[in-house]
Amino acid sequence: MKKLLVTGGAGFIGSHVVRRLVTRYPEYSIVNLDKLTYAGNLENLRDIENRPNYSFLRGDILEVNFLRDLFQREDYDAVIHLAAESHVDRSLENPSEFALTNVVGTLNLLHVAKEAWKGNTDKRFYHISTDEVYGSLGAEGYFSESSPMDPRSPYSASKAGSDHFVSAFYHSFGLPTLISRCSNNYGPNHFPEKLIPLMIHNILKGRPLPVYGKGENVRDWLYVEDHAAAIDVILHKGKPGEVYNIGGNNEWKNIDLVKLLCQIMDRKLGQPGGASERLITFVKDRPGHDLRYAIDSSRLQRELGWSPTVDFPTGLEKTVDWYLQNKEWLDHVTSGAYRDYYDRMYSHR
Ligand code: NAD
Ligand code: TYD
Repeated sequence: MKKLLVTGGAGFIGSHVVRRLVTRYPEYSIVNLDKLTYAGNLENLRDIENRPNYSFLRGDILEVNFLRDLFQREDYDAVIHLAAESHVDRSLENPSEFALTNVVGTLNLLHVAKEAWKGNTDKRFYHISTDEVYGSLGAEGYFSESSPMDPRSPYSASKAGSDHFVSAFYHSFGLPTLISRCSNNYGPNHFPEKLIPLMIHNILKGRPLPVYGKGENVRDWLYVEDHAAAIDVILHKGKPGEVYNIGGNNEWKNIDLVKLLCQIMDRKLGQPGGASERLITFVKDRPGHDLRYAIDSSRLQRELGWSPTVDFPTGLEKTVDWYLQNKEWLDHVTSGAYRDYYDRMYSHR
């Protein structure tokens, strides 16, 4: 491989993927294509932005003519597609935006890659999906690659839609595609609208910690660099047409996770025990709130030799340390357009 196009590389996971590829593969040329929505931030990549094998291109995957020109000008060997609208709560407010970016945007990329690659099977179109396409589990069981898709939120419906199109391009046109579906990520550069960074942010500001419903919902958390490592392995060793699940084997009830985070924050901030926990506020549940996600990633472990390396206590400490050392980043991303959304979300809780 020589030339890689990463979409959504200025976002949370994308920035870790870009950093890993730029650092590990100096002989590759890595192009980061990102619209820089509220969730995209070039500060995430400041440390590598001057590397000779990295370049940034601002652009929108909804602009198909722009994409077509790009693919005619440059001969990409692979696309790693992460650009998306990614937050479930926002998808409840504006489902159409999710259908556009996640479904139509993905279809645009598939289309131009198919046109430009003309049946070349050495290329790779790698679509980054989510375990949320499988729907919601009860207390038992795990999602495997053969679990039926059963999306419940507009976000997961839009990701499932994009997965179906990727699969259709493999079967109908022979486009060499890969799909991976990962569980919840956490780590540095995570936008403070998602559970873990929102709680860290609110503790720092002395604001309420909104726990939806009774906090009984379960998520399987994976450190973001482990996800980036899995993407690296799947890109290089994955079999076209296949789906790979990625998970942390690390299930937590939301309320237990928030309490653990409160303890870590109290210790790091030199506060008396219980100071952060007092901020926990149970709020109205998210509509259609999926009860539990848990991933069986044994296929990826067995066939491609990946496994998670960062245990949860270590990953959470690293994450908290990063936010404490990067308060300026938090200030930057919570000002401007995001500010309005944040205020609105809080006004009715
Ligand atoms: P994010 O919201 O942090 O980043 C998304 C990026 O996409 C941003 O940089 C944004 O500017 C860019 N983008 C959005 N619309 C665009 C457009 N029209 N054109 C070009 N760029 C656009 O998301 P994330 O958490 O880093 O997730 C990345 C991918 O991984 C998504 O596809 C998501 O569905 C998937 N995923 C996320 C998780 C998770 O826990 N966060 C888990 C599994 C899978
Ligand atoms: P989130 O980080 O939004 O990821 P996802 O919904 O994609 O899993 O939420 C993780 C869990 O935390 C989910 O069960 C919803 C819950 N949650 C809260 O209880 N309070 C919050 O303020 C947020 C953002 C999430």
